[in-house]
Amino acid sequence: MKDIILLGPPGAGKGTQASRLQDEHDMVQLSTGDMLRAAVKAGTPTGLQAKAVMDAGGLVSDEIVSGIIGEELDRLGAGKGVIFDGYPRTEAQALSLDEILSSRGRKLDHVIELVVDEDALVDRITGRYTCATCNQGYHDRYLQPKVEGVCDQCGGTEFKRRPDDNEATVRTRMAEYRAKTAPILPIYESRGLVAKVDGMADIDLVSTAIEAILKG
Ligand code: AP5
Repeated sequence: MKDIILLGPPGAGKGTQASRLQDEHDMVQLSTGDMLRAAVKAGTPTGLQAKAVMDAGGLVSDEIVSGIIGEELDRLGAGKGVIFDGYPRTEAQALSLDEILSSRGRKLDHVIELVVDEDALVDRITGRYTCATCNQGYHDRYLQPKVEGVCDQCGGTEFKRRPDDNEATVRTRMAEYRAKTAPILPIYESRGLVAKVDGMADIDLVSTAIEAILKG
Protein backbone atom coordinates (compact mmCIF):
# COMPACT_ATOMS: atom_id res chain seq x y z
CA MET A 1 0.00 0.00 0.00
CA LYS A 2 1.51 3.32 -1.06
CA ASP A 3 0.42 6.91 -0.50
CA ILE A 4 1.58 9.31 -3.20
CA ILE A 5 1.13 12.92 -4.29
CA LEU A 6 0.81 13.88 -7.96
CA LEU A 7 2.06 17.44 -8.26
CA GLY A 8 1.98 19.72 -11.28
CA PRO A 9 0.26 22.82 -12.67
CA PRO A 10 -3.29 22.83 -14.07
CA GLY A 11 -3.49 20.51 -17.06
CA ALA A 12 -0.27 18.64 -16.21
CA GLY A 13 -2.18 15.35 -16.30
CA LYS A 14 -2.68 14.69 -12.57
CA GLY A 15 -6.31 13.63 -12.94
CA THR A 16 -5.63 11.52 -16.03
CA GLN A 17 -2.83 9.60 -14.34
CA ALA A 18 -4.57 9.32 -10.95
CA SER A 19 -7.58 7.77 -12.58
CA ARG A 20 -5.40 5.21 -14.40
CA LEU A 21 -3.55 4.33 -11.19
CA GLN A 22 -6.84 3.87 -9.38
CA ASP A 23 -8.05 1.49 -12.10
CA GLU A 24 -4.88 -0.58 -12.10
CA HIS A 25 -3.80 -0.65 -8.45
CA ASP A 26 -5.37 -1.01 -5.04
CA MET A 27 -5.30 2.77 -4.72
CA VAL A 28 -7.91 5.51 -4.37
CA GLN A 29 -7.77 8.90 -6.10
CA LEU A 30 -8.48 11.79 -3.73
CA SER A 31 -8.97 14.89 -5.87
CA THR A 32 -9.79 18.03 -3.91
CA GLY A 33 -10.93 19.64 -7.17
CA ASP A 34 -13.46 16.83 -7.78
CA MET A 35 -14.64 16.97 -4.16
CA LEU A 36 -15.11 20.74 -4.30
CA ARG A 37 -16.98 20.51 -7.63
CA ALA A 38 -19.27 17.88 -6.06
CA ALA A 39 -19.89 20.23 -3.11
CA VAL A 40 -20.69 23.10 -5.50
CA LYS A 41 -23.10 20.89 -7.44
CA ALA A 42 -24.80 19.72 -4.23
CA GLY A 43 -25.06 23.31 -2.96
CA THR A 44 -23.48 22.47 0.43
CA PRO A 45 -22.12 25.31 2.63
CA THR A 46 -18.58 24.35 1.52
CA GLY A 47 -19.68 24.42 -2.11
CA LEU A 48 -21.30 27.83 -1.74
CA GLN A 49 -18.08 29.21 -0.22
CA ALA A 50 -15.85 27.59 -2.82
CA LYS A 51 -17.72 28.39 -6.04
CA ALA A 52 -16.69 32.01 -6.63
CA VAL A 53 -13.05 31.29 -5.71
CA MET A 54 -12.89 28.33 -8.10
CA ASP A 55 -14.58 30.21 -10.94
CA ALA A 56 -11.96 32.97 -10.56
CA GLY A 57 -9.05 30.49 -10.51
CA GLY A 58 -8.02 31.21 -6.90
CA LEU A 59 -7.39 28.74 -4.08
CA VAL A 60 -10.07 27.64 -1.63
CA SER A 61 -9.08 28.04 2.05
CA ASP A 62 -6.55 25.64 3.55
CA GLU A 63 -8.94 24.77 6.40
CA ILE A 64 -11.70 23.65 4.03
CA VAL A 65 -9.53 21.45 1.81
CA SER A 66 -7.51 19.89 4.64
CA GLY A 67 -10.80 19.24 6.46
CA ILE A 68 -12.30 17.36 3.51
CA ILE A 69 -9.12 15.34 2.98
CA GLY A 70 -9.14 14.22 6.63
CA GLU A 71 -12.82 13.25 6.37
CA GLU A 72 -12.24 11.27 3.15
CA LEU A 73 -9.32 9.36 4.67
CA ASP A 74 -11.45 8.44 7.68
CA ARG A 75 -14.24 7.28 5.38
CA LEU A 76 -11.74 5.21 3.38
CA GLY A 77 -10.08 3.56 6.38
CA ALA A 78 -6.83 1.59 6.19
CA GLY A 79 -5.88 -0.93 3.52
CA LYS A 80 -5.79 1.07 0.30
CA GLY A 81 -3.11 3.43 -0.93
CA VAL A 82 -4.09 7.00 -1.77
CA ILE A 83 -3.24 9.20 -4.75
CA PHE A 84 -3.46 12.83 -3.68
CA ASP A 85 -4.47 14.75 -6.82
CA GLY A 86 -4.44 18.55 -6.42
CA TYR A 87 -3.59 18.45 -2.72
CA PRO A 88 -1.53 19.82 -1.03
CA ARG A 89 -1.31 23.16 -2.84
CA THR A 90 0.21 25.43 -0.18
CA GLU A 91 2.83 25.09 2.53
CA ALA A 92 0.06 25.14 5.17
CA GLN A 93 -1.68 22.24 3.40
CA ALA A 94 1.61 20.30 3.17
CA LEU A 95 2.08 20.68 6.93
CA SER A 96 -1.55 19.68 7.56
CA LEU A 97 -1.10 16.59 5.39
CA ASP A 98 1.87 15.49 7.52
CA GLU A 99 -0.33 15.63 10.58
CA ILE A 100 -3.36 14.06 8.85
CA LEU A 101 -1.24 11.10 7.70
CA SER A 102 0.79 10.53 10.87
CA SER A 103 -2.30 10.69 13.10
CA ARG A 104 -3.77 7.87 10.99
CA GLY A 105 -0.59 5.76 10.94
CA ARG A 106 0.13 6.56 7.27
CA LYS A 107 3.12 8.06 5.50
CA LEU A 108 3.98 9.48 2.10
CA ASP A 109 5.95 7.19 -0.21
CA HIS A 110 6.43 9.36 -3.30
CA VAL A 111 5.79 12.88 -4.56
CA ILE A 112 5.63 12.63 -8.34
CA GLU A 113 6.16 15.94 -10.10
CA LEU A 114 4.76 16.14 -13.62
CA VAL A 115 7.16 18.51 -15.38
CA VAL A 116 5.40 20.39 -18.18
CA ASP A 117 5.65 23.32 -20.55
CA GLU A 118 3.08 25.83 -19.31
CA ASP A 119 2.38 27.28 -22.76
CA ALA A 120 1.11 23.89 -23.98
CA LEU A 121 -1.21 23.54 -21.00
CA VAL A 122 -3.69 26.20 -22.05
CA ASP A 123 -4.36 24.14 -25.17
CA ARG A 124 -4.75 20.96 -23.11
CA ILE A 125 -7.19 22.53 -20.68
CA THR A 126 -9.36 24.46 -23.10
CA GLY A 127 -9.76 21.26 -25.19
CA ARG A 128 -10.73 19.11 -22.21
CA TYR A 129 -14.21 17.67 -21.61
CA THR A 130 -15.73 14.83 -19.59
CA CYS A 131 -18.61 12.39 -19.81
CA ALA A 132 -21.58 13.91 -17.97
CA THR A 133 -22.56 10.47 -16.66
CA CYS A 134 -19.34 8.80 -15.45
CA ASN A 135 -16.86 11.70 -15.57
CA GLN A 136 -14.41 9.90 -17.90
CA GLY A 137 -12.01 12.54 -19.28
CA TYR A 138 -11.43 13.32 -22.98
CA HIS A 139 -9.73 15.94 -25.12
CA ASP A 140 -10.80 17.48 -28.44
CA ARG A 141 -7.53 16.38 -30.07
CA TYR A 142 -5.42 14.22 -27.71
CA LEU A 143 -7.96 11.77 -26.30
CA GLN A 144 -11.19 11.25 -28.20
CA PRO A 145 -13.81 8.55 -27.57
CA LYS A 146 -13.38 5.52 -29.86
CA VAL A 147 -16.87 6.18 -31.28
CA GLU A 148 -17.53 9.87 -31.80
CA GLY A 149 -20.02 11.25 -29.27
CA VAL A 150 -20.19 8.02 -27.19
CA CYS A 151 -18.31 7.55 -23.91
CA ASP A 152 -15.91 4.57 -24.05
CA GLN A 153 -16.52 3.75 -20.42
CA CYS A 154 -20.30 3.97 -19.91
CA GLY A 155 -21.84 4.58 -23.34
CA GLY A 156 -23.15 7.99 -22.27
CA THR A 157 -23.75 10.58 -24.98
CA GLU A 158 -23.79 13.78 -22.90
CA PHE A 159 -20.50 15.57 -22.26
CA LYS A 160 -19.58 18.67 -20.24
CA ARG A 161 -16.80 21.26 -19.84
CA ARG A 162 -15.63 22.90 -16.60
CA PRO A 163 -16.55 26.58 -16.09
CA ASP A 164 -12.95 27.37 -15.01
CA ASP A 165 -11.43 25.90 -18.19
CA ASN A 166 -11.29 29.20 -20.10
CA GLU A 167 -7.96 30.81 -20.98
CA ALA A 168 -8.14 33.76 -18.55
CA THR A 169 -8.93 31.55 -15.54
CA VAL A 170 -6.32 29.00 -16.56
CA ARG A 171 -3.66 31.75 -16.54
CA THR A 172 -4.72 32.74 -12.99
CA ARG A 173 -4.62 29.09 -11.88
CA MET A 174 -1.09 28.78 -13.29
CA ALA A 175 0.03 31.91 -11.48
CA GLU A 176 -1.40 30.48 -8.25
CA TYR A 177 0.54 27.27 -8.87
CA ARG A 178 3.83 29.15 -9.39
CA ALA A 179 3.32 31.40 -6.36
CA LYS A 180 1.87 28.97 -3.80
CA THR A 181 2.25 25.34 -4.89
CA ALA A 182 5.67 25.06 -6.57
CA PRO A 183 7.33 26.38 -3.37
CA ILE A 184 6.25 23.25 -1.46
CA LEU A 185 8.47 21.02 -3.63
CA PRO A 186 11.64 21.74 -1.60
CA ILE A 187 9.89 20.43 1.54
CA TYR A 188 9.53 17.03 -0.12
CA GLU A 189 12.90 17.23 -1.91
CA SER A 190 14.61 17.61 1.47
CA ARG A 191 12.96 14.30 2.47
CA GLY A 192 14.12 12.53 -0.70
CA LEU A 193 10.54 11.89 -1.83
CA VAL A 194 10.39 13.73 -5.17
CA ALA A 195 10.57 11.93 -8.52
CA LYS A 196 10.22 13.95 -11.72
CA VAL A 197 8.32 12.69 -14.76
CA ASP A 198 8.16 14.31 -18.20
CA GLY A 199 4.49 15.31 -18.33
CA MET A 200 4.82 16.43 -21.96
CA ALA A 201 5.32 12.84 -23.11
CA ASP A 202 2.50 10.75 -24.53
CA ILE A 203 -0.12 9.80 -21.89
CA ASP A 204 0.89 6.08 -21.97
CA LEU A 205 4.57 6.94 -21.54
CA VAL A 206 3.78 9.12 -18.54
CA SER A 207 1.87 6.18 -17.02
CA THR A 208 4.82 3.85 -17.66
CA ALA A 209 7.23 6.26 -15.95
CA ILE A 210 4.93 6.52 -12.91
CA GLU A 211 4.58 2.73 -12.73
CA ALA A 212 8.39 2.43 -12.65
CA ILE A 213 8.54 4.84 -9.70
CA LEU A 214 5.88 2.90 -7.80
CA LYS A 215 7.78 -0.37 -8.31
CA GLY A 216 11.09 1.15 -7.15
P1 AP5 B 1 -8.37 20.94 -9.82
O1 AP5 B 1 -9.60 20.24 -10.22
O2 AP5 B 1 -7.39 20.25 -8.95
O3 AP5 B 1 -7.69 21.53 -11.12
P2 AP5 B 1 -6.15 21.78 -11.53
O4 AP5 B 1 -5.08 21.54 -10.53
O5 AP5 B 1 -6.18 23.12 -12.10
O6 AP5 B 1 -5.85 20.61 -12.42
P3 AP5 B 1 -6.67 20.17 -13.64
O7 AP5 B 1 -7.77 19.25 -13.25
O8 AP5 B 1 -7.03 21.36 -14.47
O9 AP5 B 1 -5.54 19.41 -14.47
P4 AP5 B 1 -4.90 17.98 -14.35
O10 AP5 B 1 -3.45 18.12 -13.99
O11 AP5 B 1 -5.72 17.05 -13.50
O12 AP5 B 1 -4.97 17.57 -15.88
P5 AP5 B 1 -5.86 16.48 -16.63
O13 AP5 B 1 -5.39 15.11 -16.28
O14 AP5 B 1 -7.31 16.77 -16.50
O15 AP5 B 1 -8.76 22.30 -9.03
C1 AP5 B 1 -9.76 23.18 -9.54
C2 AP5 B 1 -9.94 24.33 -8.55
O16 AP5 B 1 -10.40 23.81 -7.27
C3 AP5 B 1 -8.67 25.12 -8.21
O17 AP5 B 1 -8.43 26.14 -9.17
C4 AP5 B 1 -9.04 25.67 -6.81
O18 AP5 B 1 -9.89 26.78 -6.91
C5 AP5 B 1 -9.82 24.53 -6.18
N1 AP5 B 1 -8.94 23.60 -5.44
C6 AP5 B 1 -8.71 22.28 -5.72
N2 AP5 B 1 -7.86 21.75 -4.84
C7 AP5 B 1 -7.51 22.74 -3.98
C8 AP5 B 1 -6.61 22.81 -2.87
N3 AP5 B 1 -5.90 21.74 -2.47
N4 AP5 B 1 -6.49 24.00 -2.23
C9 AP5 B 1 -7.20 25.08 -2.61
N5 AP5 B 1 -8.06 25.09 -3.67
C10 AP5 B 1 -8.20 23.92 -4.35
O19 AP5 B 1 -5.37 16.77 -18.14
C11 AP5 B 1 -5.80 17.93 -18.84
C12 AP5 B 1 -6.14 17.56 -20.29
O20 AP5 B 1 -4.94 17.19 -20.96
C13 AP5 B 1 -7.09 16.36 -20.43
O21 AP5 B 1 -7.98 16.61 -21.48
C14 AP5 B 1 -6.17 15.19 -20.76
O22 AP5 B 1 -6.82 14.25 -21.60
C15 AP5 B 1 -5.03 15.86 -21.48
N6 AP5 B 1 -3.74 15.23 -21.15
C16 AP5 B 1 -3.34 14.76 -19.93
N7 AP5 B 1 -2.09 14.28 -20.02
C17 AP5 B 1 -1.70 14.47 -21.32
C18 AP5 B 1 -0.49 14.16 -22.04
N8 AP5 B 1 0.56 13.57 -21.44
N9 AP5 B 1 -0.45 14.51 -23.35
C19 AP5 B 1 -1.50 15.11 -23.97
N10 AP5 B 1 -2.68 15.39 -23.34
C20 AP5 B 1 -2.76 15.08 -22.03
